[in-house]
Amino acid sequence: MKHLIDIQELSTVELAEMIATAEDIIANPQKYADACRGKKLATLFFEPSTRTRLSFEAAMYELGGNVLSVSSANSSSAAKGESIADTAKTVSCYADIIAMRHPKEGAPLVASMNASIPVINAGDGGHNHPTQTLADLLTIWREKRRFDNLTIGLCGDLKFGRTVHSLISAMSRYSGIKFVLISPEELKLPSYVREEFIESKGIEYKQTTDLIEVMPELDILYMTRVQRERFSSEDEYQRLKDSYILTPDKLETAKSDLSILHPLPRVNEISVAIDSDPRACYFKQVLNGKYMRMALILKLLSMKDCESDASYEGERVVDTIKCQNPRCITSVEQELPHVFKLTDKEQGVYRCIYCESKAK
Ligand code: CP
Repeated sequence: MKHLIDIQELSTVELAEMIATAEDIIANPQKYADACRGKKLATLFFEPSTRTRLSFEAAMYELGGNVLSVSSANSSSAAKGESIADTAKTVSCYADIIAMRHPKEGAPLVASMNASIPVINAGDGGHNHPTQTLADLLTIWREKRRFDNLTIGLCGDLKFGRTVHSLISAMSRYSGIKFVLISPEELKLPSYVREEFIESKGIEYKQTTDLIEVMPELDILYMTRVQRERFSSEDEYQRLKDSYILTPDKLETAKSDLSILHPLPRVNEISVAIDSDPRACYFKQVLNGKYMRMALILKLLSMKDCESDASYEGERVVDTIKCQNPRCITSVEQELPHVFKLTDKEQGVYRCIYCESKAK
């Protein structure tokens, strides 16, 4: 079974093939109109969404398939305490593929371990959002026609912004990439992302709080929302929410071919006055998300039951250490085994397979 839980599960070759498929869908939509006839996608969204859920559903309809939908946690038996494992086993009886969003980190991985159909991570807490990365990659490709030799500025909530984590993970595999990490001190990129995908690969990067200072260097500016729903303190959110607001004057020193991306929804981070700037790509990104999700559904439904679960490869320890991350799925599902895998042999670092927190 092939799932998509983490963007690293797709090789750069597979990503290039999916981009080619998406571009063919854009050019020849009729060719794909019956590609999923008789198939059903279940969208299980235990957290709010506009783009991801509706684009998955539009994608399946445009492929000739059908959709079963759970659009909130309180409209399913999750509200009665049903586990992710039981939910995945149940939905496997009705559908051919699942797209799941959940506030707890690692929930889609747990679903993939228990489902008999492919599971797609449609966003898990502040952890990962691989299908947003597919939208981001098609947008970058259509704007730049390359993935190498790009300076990418990521601005805003780099701590909880799951789209940032997945995008850095994906872009770190191309050559000549430089990352500029722009955030308040309190919302810096988690150390596991910085260490695993930037520092260990010798990728050039800088961390700063000053967007204006770095603006002239950037080929891509990826703005993000401060993720109110992940804060434990409303006062802290109020203090940080307007850390960066992109307005036309701030683009005065930007490159003429800068591409401005944002996974959306935006709150205040990009003034609507930027929307008419030819460098604004965020609504193209929304549409690109639908095409890449079509390419992903096609890919996963065409695969045979042959793939192992990458998260279970390598040395691991079970139920010896407890995950301390309150956002991890193990914090609410009491019967889940606490599994840690060795991610750095030299330093002896073990990480939770669900949320990637370091063992303490
Ligand atoms: N980008 C994104 O995930 O948007 P939604 O939360 O609306 O799905």
